[in-house]
Amino acid sequence: MLHTRPLHPGFGIEVVGLDLSDPASDAAVDQLVKELDRHSLILVRGQTLSNARHVGISRRFGDLMTHVLKQFLTTGLPEIYVLSNVTEDGKPIGNHKEGWNWHSDLSYVAEPSMGSLLYAVEVPPVGADTLFASMHLAYEALPPEVQASIRHLSATHSYAGYYGKAFADREPLSDEQKARTPDVVHPLVRTHPVTGRLSLYVGQDIIKSVNGLPPEEGNALLDKLNRHAISEEFVYRHKWRQGDLIIWDNRCTMHCATPYEDTKYRRIMHRTTVAGTRPF
Ligand code: SIN
Repeated sequence: MLHTRPLHPGFGIEVVGLDLSDPASDAAVDQLVKELDRHSLILVRGQTLSNARHVGISRRFGDLMTHVLKQFLTTGLPEIYVLSNVTEDGKPIGNHKEGWNWHSDLSYVAEPSMGSLLYAVEVPPVGADTLFASMHLAYEALPPEVQASIRHLSATHSYAGYYGKAFADREPLSDEQKARTPDVVHPLVRTHPVTGRLSLYVGQDIIKSVNGLPPEEGNALLDKLNRHAISEEFVYRHKWRQGDLIIWDNRCTMHCATPYEDTKYRRIMHRTTVAGTRPF
């Protein structure tokens, strides 16, 4: 049986007393797979995971995706995407300033990730919290007439658009990277494929347009929904400690990394992303 405590009144649990480095915990990991559908986010603290074990645990949630920015798959295991401000031999070991916008992982592909497993290898003593927002709670709190007015709208998600905004000072995407990430259309409200619960499916910088609305109206709607979605009552703020593993459901949460003193402190995070299905 899992020992849990809530992280937020509406979503998220911490599981205590679990050593995921031990292969005997596989049965517990399979329980986490089920709990994720219900709780949207799971924290397990105090882990000492090898890269192989991180990938092994992640695979129990489903097939794993590899990130289009191959230069940050630096651990020797291509399933691990490194987020970091650290450079070794003059080269960044991970993508710095990744995810400093509200988003759900890989929403810019036709079949976005169902979930991510982010492991804290090294974290600053202050700053660099990650914020998580429940898109179930956000959708359910909207007035019924607003729910009805957005229920059948769709939006175009663009990786090239996001990259251009987030990493304007870097080399542009290569032709191959662009070819791997064409713009995609997803509903603004999606259904959780396991529970049937509805959630908002929005995001900052990643959505290029709301389809079927004049640009000004679409942008204003998106802005309003994004602001609503990250209202304090839907948000859990995580203060990282080394050895924390957070597993979240990308189908019904958004998250946003926050800045830190990146010239003073090192941050190394390892992320795996589990394949998902087309949102509906
Ligand atoms: C992410 O956007 O997946 C990473 C969040 C973080 O680095 O805290």
